[in-house]
Amino acid sequence: MLSKKQAKLFFLVGTFTTFLIFIGLTIFSLSKAQDQSHADRITPEVVRGKHLWEKNNCMGCHTIMGEGAYYAPELTNVIERRGEDYVKGVLMSKTPWQPRGRKMVAYAMSEQEANDMVAFFNWISEIDLNGFEKVDRKVSPLAKDMMKD
Ligand code: HEC
Repeated sequence: MLSKKQAKLFFLVGTFTTFLIFIGLTIFSLSKAQDQSHADRITPEVVRGKHLWEKNNCMGCHTIMGEGAYYAPELTNVIERRGEDYVKGVLMSKTPWQPRGRKMVAYAMSEQEANDMVAFFNWISEIDLNGFEKVDRKVSPLAKDMMKD
């Protein structure tokens, strides 16, 4: 059994040590060398693409980096999977894109808007996601039966 004094010392040293480790790891995580998002590669096109992404609520149906709704395909690696021309075709289409049964919104985007979206997807795909981007996750789990390639 620890005496009261020993217990107090144990508490203080333990708390202080874990606190220091916590601060150290926080500084390490936020340091430039640990930047996984390549923020320096955010061009004006990427920013415009991100605005289009927000404004049109793409996440209402899609997931990106695993976040969002499970109605439509995961888009983190969509450029690698489909190629830029396919993605632009989907976004510029004037009729709903639906080769596999579920309807994508017919945004009829301009060439520039579609290019901005592609720039956004390209930047997203370069983020180091600790391996998530390498997982073969074309489709959100709940949409799997609907979205056969
Ligand atoms: C109402 C739901 C909905 C919204 C909102 C939506 N999508 Fe889609 N999207 C779909 C569906 C469903 C598909 C799959 C269509 C198919 O292949 O049959 C799709 C397909 C796509 C594809 C092709 C993916 C692939 O793997 O074939 C891209 C790229 C895409 N959407 C981008 C977007 C972007 C960018 C936005 C926002 C500007 C958006 N979507 C908003 C439903 C939606």
